[in-house]
Amino acid sequence: EFIKAYAPATVANVCCGFDVLGFALDQPGDEVWARKTEQPGITITAIHGIDGLSSDPTENVIGVVAHKMLTDLHITHGLEMQLHKGMPVGSGLGSSAASSAAAAFAVNELLGKPFTTQALVLYAMEGEKKASGSAHADNVAPSLLGGFVLVRDYSPLDVVPLGVPLDLYCTILYPQIELKTSLSRSILKQEIPLKKGITQWGNLAGFMAGLLMKDYALLGRSLHDEIFEPERSILIPLFHQVKAAALAAGALGAGISGSGPSIFALSATLAQAQAVQEAMEKVYAHSGIDTKTYVSQV
Ligand code: HSE
Repeated sequence: EFIKAYAPATVANVCCGFDVLGFALDQPGDEVWARKTEQPGITITAIHGIDGLSSDPTENVIGVVAHKMLTDLHITHGLEMQLHKGMPVGSGLGSSAASSAAAAFAVNELLGKPFTTQALVLYAMEGEKKASGSAHADNVAPSLLGGFVLVRDYSPLDVVPLGVPLDLYCTILYPQIELKTSLSRSILKQEIPLKKGITQWGNLAGFMAGLLMKDYALLGRSLHDEIFEPERSILIPLFHQVKAAALAAGALGAGISGSGPSIFALSATLAQAQAVQEAMEKVYAHSGIDTKTYVSQV
């Protein structure tokens, strides 16, 4: 009688849309299981697929999300939850977001769907806040809604699901070092020079237009980030070499996935995405750093 919900990894920022744009992958992803219990309170009885994550429901994002949902509905019965992690934490693939999204979805189903999808995004953001110190939605929204999602505003939250208007494939290279989102946010400058702002919002608008007009060349021209990538890429070994290799192998564009260390590249075909994967792997081949790569349809 467990409800089982799967939520996928996501790529946030997508170069030009820091904190406002993300898209979902098919895999990897996390599964959350939930069932009602007579006794009140939330217990996390199993965590599979990863070591070292707390099963304290006030510490683990799935407990945090579920607790807020139950409290808001004044529900007195309890929940037993299990987490099946299919991806590493601190990878830049929206790992805490996938757990949070799966928890919000599973609990909503269990309770007879009292919440709208928009509300589920807000609950999942509570988990994101717990994990990273900042309640951004550019991972949780696509993890819950699928496809590309624009977070047009945060107050009040206005998420715009864009789907996937054209064929796109994503190659991910994950260098197996842990990079905490809280760290890679803490190093960012808080002011943006006007000139860089103009370039960035030109690119974001170009990317949106490219998606909706199914214009691959425009998508490719828009996949740039002159603000955050220069600041964050110093935390990612071989970033510039991997990006250059992906572009040379024919990717439309490439950049840091979320807050890193994963690096993503978008391609128009599966064959292209696989060629890009090979090129990206080659850069790390003798680096002494273990990597994992994923190719997924967007
Ligand atoms: N937009 C967020 C960031 C995504 O770049 O910090 C990471 O969770």
